[in-house]
Amino acid sequence: MAYVEVLLNQKGGVGKSTLTVNLAATTADALTGSGASESSPVAAVSIDPQGSAVWWADRVDALPFYIVQAHDEIDNLRKLRDLNGIDHVYVDTPGWIGQDDDTSPLGSGPAADALRAVLESADHVLVPIEPEPLGFDPTARTIEKVIKPLGLDYLVVINNWDPRDGTADLDQTRDYIRANNWPLANTVVRHYKVHTRAAADGLVVTEYPRNRVSMEARADFSKLALELKMGAR
Ligand SMILES: Nc1ncnc2c1ncn2[C@@H]1O[C@H](COP(=O)(O)OP(=O)(O)OP(=O)(O)O)[C@@H](O)[C@H]1O
Ligand SMILES: [Mg+2]
Repeated sequence: MAYVEVLLNQKGGVGKSTLTVNLAATTADALTGSGASESSPVAAVSIDPQGSAVWWADRVDALPFYIVQAHDEIDNLRKLRDLNGIDHVYVDTPGWIGQDDDTSPLGSGPAADALRAVLESADHVLVPIEPEPLGFDPTARTIEKVIKPLGLDYLVVINNWDPRDGTADLDQTRDYIRANNWPLANTVVRHYKVHTRAAADGLVVTEYPRNRVSMEARADFSKLALELKMGAR
């Protein structure tokens, strides 16, 4: 049975695709060594019709995990735990336009159906948030209206914090998360240019050049992957 981790936040641009691809790469690297192997135990599944994770993965040589675009495969999305030979699945989801209708917080239509199917097979949900207080409302909605009503285990992770900006926004973000009693990852994924450029450069985090800055950038994903797996036991 695969362990299914879903990256979810109604807010766009918070790092769902970045975390999906790089957590899949980090997990595959730990389990198989770097480079493509004939049978990776890791799959990244995208249900974002825009498919940015797939666009990115397609540019990577020796991708160490499987990548699947599956926004229109509702029946298969309900069975992600049963993917043959796969132990770890990371699912990239689209941001979505909020509905005021509390009875259907995911909205309706094919994208909402895909999201519902994925959440049916989810073992755990990872909610990226940026340290930008203006972006908090969609995150609150995602957690309170979607994740909690389904009774899913989840963790919030702060992504894209630039240490050069100082700690004021980071502290405020942490305070907000704690005030809401949401579980927060210890790991903060810092902002690095190398992450921003990775899709265009056709690289995943495990393939970054071996300089000091890239190794720092990579360390955040190693820590986050470890934290997720320790929490899963
Ligand atoms: N830690 C980081 N350091 C540097 N750049 C980052 C980091 N995380 C994300 N980015 C950049 O921020 C942008 C948005 O990230 P990403 O596409 O992963 O977000 P998303 O939540 O998948 O967005 P969408 O909702 O549109 O699918 C991208 O250009 C990405 O490269
Ligand atoms: Mg995305």
